Amino acid sequence: LDGARAPALVIGTGYGGAVAALRLAEAGVDVHMAEMGMAWDTPGSDGKIFANTTRPDVRSFWLRTRTKQPLSNFLGFPLDKDVPRHTGILDAEEFGGITVYQGRGVGGGSLVNGGMAVTPRRENFAAVLPSVNASEMYGTYYPRANAALGVSTIDPGWFETAECYQYARVGRKHAQRSGFPFVFVPDVYDWDYMKREQAGTATRSALAGEILYGNNHGKKSLQQTYLARAKATGRVTISPLHKVTSVTPAAGGGYTVTIDQINTGGDTVATKEMTADKVFFAAGSVGTSKLLVKLRATGALPRLNGEVGKGWGDNGNVMCGRANHMWDATGSLQSSIPTAGIDNWAAGGAFAEVAPLPTGIETYASFYLSITKNPHRAEFSWNAATGRAELNWQTAWKQPSIDAARTIFDKINAKEGTIYRTDLFGAYKIWGDHLTYHPLGGAVLDRATDNYGRLHGHPGLYVIDGALIPGNTSVNPFVTITALAERNIEKIIAADL
Ligand code: FDA
Repeated sequence: LDGARAPALVIGTGYGGAVAALRLAEAGVDVHMAEMGMAWDTPGSDGKIFANTTRPDVRSFWLRTRTKQPLSNFLGFPLDKDVPRHTGILDAEEFGGITVYQGRGVGGGSLVNGGMAVTPRRENFAAVLPSVNASEMYGTYYPRANAALGVSTIDPGWFETAECYQYARVGRKHAQRSGFPFVFVPDVYDWDYMKREQAGTATRSALAGEILYGNNHGKKSLQQTYLARAKATGRVTISPLHKVTSVTPAAGGGYTVTIDQINTGGDTVATKEMTADKVFFAAGSVGTSKLLVKLRATGALPRLNGEVGKGWGDNGNVMCGRANHMWDATGSLQSSIPTAGIDNWAAGGAFAEVAPLPTGIETYASFYLSITKNPHRAEFSWNAATGRAELNWQTAWKQPSIDAARTIFDKINAKEGTIYRTDLFGAYKIWGDHLTYHPLGGAVLDRATDNYGRLHGHPGLYVIDGALIPGNTSVNPFVTITALAERNIEKIIAADL
């Protein structure tokens, strides 16, 4: 790597990066990928690659000495515990007003997410990506992304009987009794595998509570889909535990890229320099935005425009739980893969997923992750004094999200005669309003870049990840990130190579 010259360098191995690498390699371009996280291809001493959600260990968190679980408390007990500092899989990155959860490793967010693979309703698309031709997206790029990701929907007959989805059937019943449209949420999980988990003929993964720290079976992460195909071309090499710190124009053309190689304790063990003709920023909304505001402020990329860092949103994420009556037991065995959704976007600005609480015991709780129409947008900026990028999101900006979620759950509570749980996010706290799983924006399409992700001011630099999307997708974001990357890379290969 040190001293090498690559036609294309991709920073990050999540959805945007994986699409770019595959399509460039198929077009005959040799691609190098730098990924700050680990490879996640080798089992630990327990024979498993990934840790269980109920037993977080050294593999679970990115360079923290104490876990920071999204559900911090249960029945009054704090759940977090001390762990050795390690380049684990889930980053709980803390900014002033919000904790942003992200995947770290080869596969990015696909390693830790729920695999919920949702295409926005077409009538909502103009608000998601106003400068993009919807007919092309719905005719070509969404279908291409869904096929390559391996998206499918649960067998509705099996859903009715599977023990592990009792919690989702209770969620559906409550939604329908209050008159809300219920939808199945597609996923990249292998549903046949899950049927065998339920039947007791396959090693349990979704049914063993695996999700946030990785799934050992069943889930088709990018390691099984785009990245496997990219590697099979023979043109793609990936360097895990390599963090890009600088990109600047090179004297002889192209860009000089500085990369820190780190160990599993997070310490830099080598600093490398390579040259790349083209550089694709695919470090995720936060990773790409942080790098770009730093490179603009420090003069490494002085011609980036004033839109860089702007337009960041949390996809309106907010969580809550409800306490059910004893006749609405949600089951002690819960699949960690959600499959049920309540769509109140048009009327109330909220799309709520019925999420599991895989504790292994009956909790009589219903738990929900809502995606809401939240108008607030934050900006990244570079703090030269601290040498860090900052985000000016305010916790109070979650209020519109809470209001939107309440259009669903206040009504359900009134109908069922039930109340919100107050023990999941701290003492007497109803709303999980301190976090997001869905960071979006910071280098918005057609503002910081042209309409295909080419960064203004520096030819040969591209943004190809969630940073392009201006803060909200109305549903879970990765299908849209993937489809937009497919659209943009097709244009870039045709016009720029
Ligand atoms: P992504 O974040 O995937 O990848 C960026 C990669 O770049 C990471 O691997 C990172 O380590 C690396 N990187 C960053 N900085 C770097 C640097 N300087 N040098 C080298 N590498 C660097 N979405 C959805 O649609 N359905 C779902 O069910 C869920 N569920 C969910 C659960 C949880 C717990 C989380 C955290 C997230 C989700 N998501 C989700 C969100 C989804 O995972 C997310 O939107 C995508 O992974 C974003 O894709 P990107 O390609 O933008 O970046």
